[in-house]
Amino acid sequence: MAKMEDIVSLCKRRGFIWQGSDVYGGMAGTWDFGPLGVSLKKKIMDAWWKYWVEDREDMYGVDAAIIMNPRTWVASGHTATFADPLVECGACHGRFRADKIADGISESVTTEEFKALNVKCPTCGKTEWGDIRKFNMMFQTHVGPVDDDSSIAYLRPETAQGIFTNYKNVVDTLYPDLPFGLAQQGKAFRNEISPRDFILRDRECSQMEIEYFVDPKTWEENFETLLKQQHEFLTDVMGLEAERIHDLEVEEADRAHYSKRTVDIEFDYPNGREELMGLAYRTDFDLQNIQRESGKNMEYIVKGTTERFVPHVIEPSIGVERLFLAVLTCAYKEDEINGEKRVVLALNENLAPYRFCVSPLLKNKPELVEKAKEVYAALRKKYGNVTWDDSGNIGKRYRKQDEIGTPKCVVIDFDTLEDDTVTVRDRDTTEQVRVKIAEL
Ligand code: GAP
Repeated sequence: MAKMEDIVSLCKRRGFIWQGSDVYGGMAGTWDFGPLGVSLKKKIMDAWWKYWVEDREDMYGVDAAIIMNPRTWVASGHTATFADPLVECGACHGRFRADKIADGISESVTTEEFKALNVKCPTCGKTEWGDIRKFNMMFQTHVGPVDDDSSIAYLRPETAQGIFTNYKNVVDTLYPDLPFGLAQQGKAFRNEISPRDFILRDRECSQMEIEYFVDPKTWEENFETLLKQQHEFLTDVMGLEAERIHDLEVEEADRAHYSKRTVDIEFDYPNGREELMGLAYRTDFDLQNIQRESGKNMEYIVKGTTERFVPHVIEPSIGVERLFLAVLTCAYKEDEINGEKRVVLALNENLAPYRFCVSPLLKNKPELVEKAKEVYAALRKKYGNVTWDDSGNIGKRYRKQDEIGTPKCVVIDFDTLEDDTVTVRDRDTTEQVRVKIAEL
């Protein structure tokens, strides 16, 4: 089982992920993706988009603004209720999320219940807790040159509301049959009290969300179908191990204010089991709120009939960073080749930052370099994501490409000049075969 520190160290060493604003000492809860990280992240997001939007006839995409009219957050309930239980240690003044300090504490814990548990402060070990208060997690900003209450706006804490606010635009322009889904990918911002566990709990993250609009009579069957499809996506497209994925039926007390049923899909990360994504039945909560707040009719008229109703919604929502870490957790492997430790990222081929690495066997032989450049150019033209490596010796190059997950290394040697064949070395088995260039 991969350890978190091994994954963090690989991410830093090979340019997948660095602490945000690293050069200035960092910025808690923010992360920067380097060249390989952005490539993997983009492939994860593109594979999600292809699976959920492009390959389906019932899904459409939107890309809404991050800063929305603040009435959005009044209508959605975020202004009033998007808050975590904050507790302050009276001795060292450390501030913590009460439900994350020890196991088995619910988000709705009261001050009395919390104090009775006699939890020790993680920083100073004392038990001198103040009262629990609700801390709203939305980041505030001001729009325009006036810095008063009238200009307050928020960075969106979920991409979902940018979908709901466009539901009517989509129905008025495309008029899709029910059920249909609207999908969005993009940044979401939460002023988390305690960002932690590498990229698992961030202050700035990316979400991929779908609002699936259904006839209320059919919500249960649509919920089950979407749940099954989520599992298929996670295992078949993302390459996650099925044994690490678990459904948690969320109890009413722990569900978000809008949900009548939620299944959290949890994942066994190196540091333990955590929520990877959620599937929530949001009823008509959001569209009814928008209808009330905006005065605009959100009803759907079933085609060819006079039947009209406000659709209900099932929402699959996943964080890109959590999926990224789950992908790395399953892909990270250590083995031994000829008595030497090797780190391998056994990523699905569709996610690997590079599909091929091309090298000349020796970099001081111009004829090999020239031929290798030819093969490199041809593969780049065909596949795009191909890398070149002529550093160090061939063994070191293989080790580096194994660590960044490149499925195949193509090596040009003296035989290539004679018979137009190359060595293709497989990342997972380390086996080498001779292949004609034309067949690559
Ligand atoms: N629209 C519903 C919604 O936002 P959520 O459970 O708060 O529901 C959905 O978030 C998903 O977004 C989570 O399952 C997780 O994958 C991701 N997520 C939420 N907060 C996050 C954070 N602070 N850092 C990283 N990912 C986060």
